[in-house]
Amino acid sequence: MLARLKENLSTVIRGKSEAIDQLLTAMLADGHALIDDVPGTGKTTLAKALAVSLSARFSRIQFTPDLLPTDIVGGMIYSAANGSFTFRPGPVFANIVLADEINRASPRTQSALLEAMAERQVTTEGASRALPRPFLVIATQNPVEYNGTYPLPEAQLDRFCLRLSIGYPRHNHELQMLNDQIRSQPLDKLRPVMDTDALARLQAEVREVGVEPSVLDYIVRLVERTRHNPRLRLGVSPRGSLDLRRCAQAAAYMAGRDSVRPDDVQFQAAPVLAHRVVIDIKARHGGLTGEAVIAEALRAEPVPA
Ligand SMILES: Nc1ncnc2c1ncn2[C@@H]1O[C@H](COP(=O)(O)OP(=O)(O)O)[C@@H](O)[C@H]1O
Ligand SMILES: [Mg+2]
Repeated sequence: MLARLKENLSTVIRGKSEAIDQLLTAMLADGHALIDDVPGTGKTTLAKALAVSLSARFSRIQFTPDLLPTDIVGGMIYSAANGSFTFRPGPVFANIVLADEINRASPRTQSALLEAMAERQVTTEGASRALPRPFLVIATQNPVEYNGTYPLPEAQLDRFCLRLSIGYPRHNHELQMLNDQIRSQPLDKLRPVMDTDALARLQAEVREVGVEPSVLDYIVRLVERTRHNPRLRLGVSPRGSLDLRRCAQAAAYMAGRDSVRPDDVQFQAAPVLAHRVVIDIKARHGGLTGEAVIAEALRAEPVPA
């Protein structure tokens, strides 16, 4: 089933199996994904392709500066028929929510979505309403240097299980893309290969993938190391170690194994952790990145046998 899903996505996004694997890792880990890259690299297309490949309730929210919180979570509307207010659910009530160009909306609107992501419920007018399960947010954003963006605060970035970028395709893959799109967009012909019940079963199996105590200890040591790094203003949160464990399990599962190896942790460490650390101003001006901090931690921490 996963092989069919990957195949489906790779007919739409050419030559990007690593990015596709990362997105599927987040999906299997029951976590939200942030796709961060320059315009035109297939972010929206990849997110839509995953939504189409799963027959699930899907909604796309285009974030703009004038988008309001109620445009996401919904709100109370007056019904003349029975003379009272009723709740009209917003587009966040779906299994897969594509939050497109999330950093173009104001912080207040971003936080309406991010609360829903963490709590998996929406609270309005004192009443809480559960979101459907599975619930997966795929957000896209252009790099923060772009004009007219409100960078996501670190507390909100922490809610993304992992961050991935796609990158430009290689020469041959770009040629293939040109050939694919002579008359139409391959996305328009995509068919579902899995439903939400099947996805929920896969996610449950991922939670059963074994993790040795020594590997759990390795995860905690890596995370702790970021908290003692003098060039960081903020290290990785406990939510980060939970997500790292889950993504390592998902990666092992995708590789057909029933237990996590230390290299699963190593491969997932940067995608899962790098966006959660906050580098202090001086080190940032020196060019230090979250990825480099995580790579350094991986080099320094002894790997379990
Ligand atoms: N690696 C790729 N393989 C196939 N098509 C691609 C690839 N990268 C970009 N495209 C195509 O480029 C166009 C723009 O993609 P889009 O998803 O709208 O970009 P973004 O959301 O990153 O700005 C789409 O037609 C998409 O199919
Ligand atoms: Mg886009």
